[in-house]
Amino acid sequence: MNTQELINTARALVADDKGLLAMDESNPTCHKRFAKLGIPQTEEARRAYREWIVATPGLGESISGAILYDETIRQRKNDGTPFAQALVAAGIIPGIKVDAGAKELAGHPGEKITEGLDGLRDRLAEYAKMGARFAKWRAVITLGPGLPTRGCIEANAQALARYAALCQEAGLVPIVEPEVLMDGDHTMTRCGEVTEEVLRTVYDRLYAQRVILEGTLLKPNMVLPGLACPKQETVDEVADATVTCLLRAVPAAVAGIAFLSGGQPSELASARLNAMNVRFKSRRPWPLAFSYSRAIQQPALEIWRGDAANVSAAQKALGHRARCNRAARRGEYSAAMEKA
Ligand code: 13P
Repeated sequence: MNTQELINTARALVADDKGLLAMDESNPTCHKRFAKLGIPQTEEARRAYREWIVATPGLGESISGAILYDETIRQRKNDGTPFAQALVAAGIIPGIKVDAGAKELAGHPGEKITEGLDGLRDRLAEYAKMGARFAKWRAVITLGPGLPTRGCIEANAQALARYAALCQEAGLVPIVEPEVLMDGDHTMTRCGEVTEEVLRTVYDRLYAQRVILEGTLLKPNMVLPGLACPKQETVDEVADATVTCLLRAVPAAVAGIAFLSGGQPSELASARLNAMNVRFKSRRPWPLAFSYSRAIQQPALEIWRGDAANVSAAQKALGHRARCNRAARRGEYSAAMEKA
């Protein structure tokens, strides 16, 4: 492991007000989104989708790194270029999702544990050879009556820490993603309490596993009311609750924070990130960036619908969302940008 290289990569991923594109949907998740739009659920459709995303003109001006899925990093563009190489040519750092998904946690009805540690050292070495320079592992925490349990939080934090240490050993920057889900009728305050507890536990375990925080990124949820909660706070209230929680629980040494979108509407994900960067401009130790999947890709996917004739319009929509989020990093996003 070269510590300085890790730190340089982590910093590059949040430099220049850019952010990450999570194009790493597993096949079942990708198929769910394709099915809703009548797109064939085939390997070739998944490949074609990723090909036009990577070929979006100017994408590297707003996107610093892209997270690929195992299948995608092994696929090529029509001209034979592997996707990881195509990203590098576009000025984008290739990354890879390495977890094996969230499965039922034994003894904890309604809760999940992310699997994928067995054999991870060998897989990381292979991904590094294929050009990946960073990785992602997503843990999910469910809120509900009596949930989350301490057992679920601890098991997931431990797995995240073991993953992060293995990544750094292999020279890959770990993106640590503990996602507190939006599903449910919980309040924003409750989401904040749980998010803080989860983050404190995660950083305790990262410390125990000797993870170098300067060579990591955090990919958290925003602190939000549950989707079914009658009270939905304003953009500024969400920004304040989110950054307050992070300031309490995330060490200043962490290279950057790149939010997941978690199913928020695209424009709201931009507006909330923008508000955080406006309101905490001089009061935060880490860059506040984005690592969105749905909030960048969904509008473009709905235009593409599997039809080659729509690729150019879909690329325009994708580039637009990427630019909006780059503006949000600078605190320069506004609703007017959506009409331009
Ligand atoms: P969303 O932005 O769609 O939540 O996806 C982010 C992600 O990578 C989840 O692991």
